Formats: sequence, C-alpha cells, structure tokens
Amino acid sequence: NEGALWGARFAGGPSPELVELSRSTHFDWILAPYDIAGSHAHATALAAAGYLEPDEERRMHEGLDALRRGIDDGSLRPDPADEDVHGALETALIREVGAELGGRLRAGRSRNDQIATLVRMYLIDHARVIARDVLRVVDALVAQAEAHDGAIMPGRTHLQHAQPVLLAHHLQAHAWPLVRDLERLVDWRARAGVSPYGGGALAGSTLGLDPALVARELGLDRPAENSLDGTAARDVVAEFAFIASTIGINLSRLSEEIILWNTREFGFVTLDDGFSTGSSIMPQKKNPDIAELARGKAGRLIGNLSGLLATLKGLPLAYNRDLQEDKEPVFDSVRTLEVLLPAFAGMVATLRFDTTRMAALAPEGFSLATDVAEWLVRNRVPFREAHEISGALVRACEERGIGLEDATDDLLAEVSGHLTPEVREVLTIAGSVASRDGAGGTAPVRVAEQRAQLIERAQAA
Ligand code: ARG
Repeated sequence: NEGALWGARFAGGPSPELVELSRSTHFDWILAPYDIAGSHAHATALAAAGYLEPDEERRMHEGLDALRRGIDDGSLRPDPADEDVHGALETALIREVGAELGGRLRAGRSRNDQIATLVRMYLIDHARVIARDVLRVVDALVAQAEAHDGAIMPGRTHLQHAQPVLLAHHLQAHAWPLVRDLERLVDWRARAGVSPYGGGALAGSTLGLDPALVARELGLDRPAENSLDGTAARDVVAEFAFIASTIGINLSRLSEEIILWNTREFGFVTLDDGFSTGSSIMPQKKNPDIAELARGKAGRLIGNLSGLLATLKGLPLAYNRDLQEDKEPVFDSVRTLEVLLPAFAGMVATLRFDTTRMAALAPEGFSLATDVAEWLVRNRVPFREAHEISGALVRACEERGIGLEDATDDLLAEVSGHLTPEVREVLTIAGSVASRDGAGGTAPVRVAEQRAQLIERAQAA
C-alpha cells in the first residue's frame, strides 16, 4: 500500500486481520492538528540543521498548511488503508508536495516520539477547557453561598444530625476540593510541558536536530531529558486521568447530596426545570438526572484511570504497542468532563433552596447538645462532666418528646444544678452557628472570610 510507513523488509503485505486490529485512525485522528504542528516544528528543525533548502522548507510548510485546512474543513480524512494518524498525514503530504520532498520529513523522528508529544499537547489544551469549566462550578457554588448568607441547615456526620451549619459553609466545602483540582491541573501542567520529540524510536537522533527548538515551536517548556523515558513513559497521561477522576468524584459527592436533598423526605432543594428530566410513564416525575449522570460518570472516569494504570504496569522499556491503549480512555475522560461540567454548573447555579425547611430541621435530633456541653465548659464545668450533663438532658427531653429548647427551668435544674436558665442563649441555631468562630468554623464571619480565600485561590489557579 502506497501509504504504509513500513514494508520493504516484508515479503508480503499485512493480513487483513492485522490491519483491522492495528488501525487507530478512528480515535487518533483527533490528534491530526497536533501532528501537523509537530511536522511544522520538525521541518523547521530539519531546515535549521541543513536537511531542507529554504525553498523546500517553505514548500513543506505550505503543504502542511494545506493539510491543516483539509483537516479543519473535513475534506482530508484518513483512508481505511491508513494505520494511524501519522501514516495518513504522510501519505496526504506526499500527495500534496510530491514524494521527493514529502519523503524527507520523517528523517530523525519516529511515531514513538511523535505520539508521546502529541498526547501531551492535546491534554494541555483540554486541561485548559476543563479548568475553565471546573471554575464555573466553583463560581456557581460561591454564588449560591453568597445568595444564602446566613441560611442554616442540619450539619451531618454518619448522615445523622450532628450540629447546625451555615448552608454557605456546606456549599463552600464542596467548592474547596474543586479548587484543589484546579491546582492539581496547574501542578500537572509543569510536568506535562516536556517534549519527547527528537527522542526518535527510543535512542535519540544522529542528525543533529534541535529538540529545544521543536519544544519551543510546540509551546512546550523543554525537551525530555531521556529519550527512552520520553517515548515510553505515560505517567503524565495517567496523572491527567487521575485528576479527571478526582474531579468526577468531587462532583459525584455533591451529586449524592443533591439527589438526597431533592427527595420528598428532605425537601431541601428544587431543581430548575431546564436542569431536570421527566418520566416516560409517570407524569408527575421530575428527576435529578444530571446529578445521577455525574455520579455514574465518576465510575467511568475511575475505570479509565484504572484501565490505563493496568496497561502501564509491567511494561518494559522502551516503547511497546500496548501504549497505544493510553489514548481511548483519556480521550473519553476529556470528553466526559467537557460534556458533564457545563450541565453540572447550570444545575448548581439554578438550584432553589428551601431555607425555611432547612432551618426548621437544623435543631432536630438534639443537634445543640454540644453547645450545651461547651456552655457548661465556659462555666468551668469539666468537659467530661459537661458531656454527661448534656447527655442526661437529651435523654430527659427524648423521654418527654420535646426538644432541648423546650426544657423548663425545673427540668433543667432537675438534670443538673449547673443548668441555669441562661443556657438558653446557646439553644438557638443562630446562636450555635455564630459561636463556632474558631478558624475554619461555621460562624458567619469565618465563612465570609473563607469565601474570600476560596475566590482568591480559585482565581490564582
Ligand atoms: N499508534 C501508536 C500509538 O498510539 C504510535 C505508533 C507507534 N507504532 C509503532 N509501531 N511503533 O502509540
């Protein structure tokens, strides 16, 4: 076949079964624009080293530009005979500029150093899109926190009522992990910006090409220090897949809460019609499908990561064809997040909270018992005894079917002489929340300060 990148040492052509198995154009064509950029840079390096005359270099760049136009407008597509994006583009280049010139471009490079570089370029571009979209979710959470300044909800541990917290504190607690994901992407970018181009198949090139020039042309920071490592390592791809997974997991944890909050039993939120779905049989249904899809897609993102890690484990140096299996999972993770994040941000931005109901439920389950104990501590009662007294008050109220705030002066005194009527100052959810003003606590002043820090960190990332 005219387009094959190899064949001279073979007596016959490849079997159709091998061709079918080997072909990767159905997923690696997405890298075509990056392959063209790599070829431009490589042509410049070849010319700088004296392998292309100035006129040849110009015609090479023009030919590559023509290919790029064909990729963009869809007129250039891989042929079923093409094994991969690299072969398809070499064939197209030869058609464009002739075999004499087109056949010169492959000197000093291999598909092994090419593919390792192109994947990095692709991921760097999409990391930018994903970061922007994660930031939109953070912005939506911050806007909701701001809009519900002062609203109080039941805080939970073990999914049981624990202590009242500000709704804003809770929403910001979901924003922080996403801010750390943004920071992870920034950290990752420093490692991703290394260019394996020039490493050849594995051992480097004899032609005196300048890999730093290629790296610069491609917008990468520097060439790989080791050609074996550059062509065979995929930890940068795996790390990206990990960050995609943590983003998915963080969205999934919030999703789980939104799904619960949206139940009749909780009744904390109403989803906007534009961000919920109906049922084909039950006319009354309004379902939280975005949150459920986010929860489901977290599993898919984790699967992409674990599949890739399994592929990498046990691979000897240097390049092995197994490495071709890095692309579909990580492309899928990119696509998954790029579709999910905008819908998710819209769902969060349009959530309506029933703050009256949340506040009414906040003191349920004796959630102010710790406040009673800490009030006693401020009155110099040892905590161990304060815990006992508050626990006894809970039991007394539970027996009578009343809340802590309903305990009469007599009942308080009966439980303990330390429980004077002044304890009622901490028996409101607003008082409880306001008093938790230690660092990182749920007091409104701390939560407002925290929101400023959150915004600053998100914008710095
Ligand atoms: N398609 C391969 C990949 O994605 C790159 C080509 C390397 N192939 C080869 N036979 N050395 O990893």
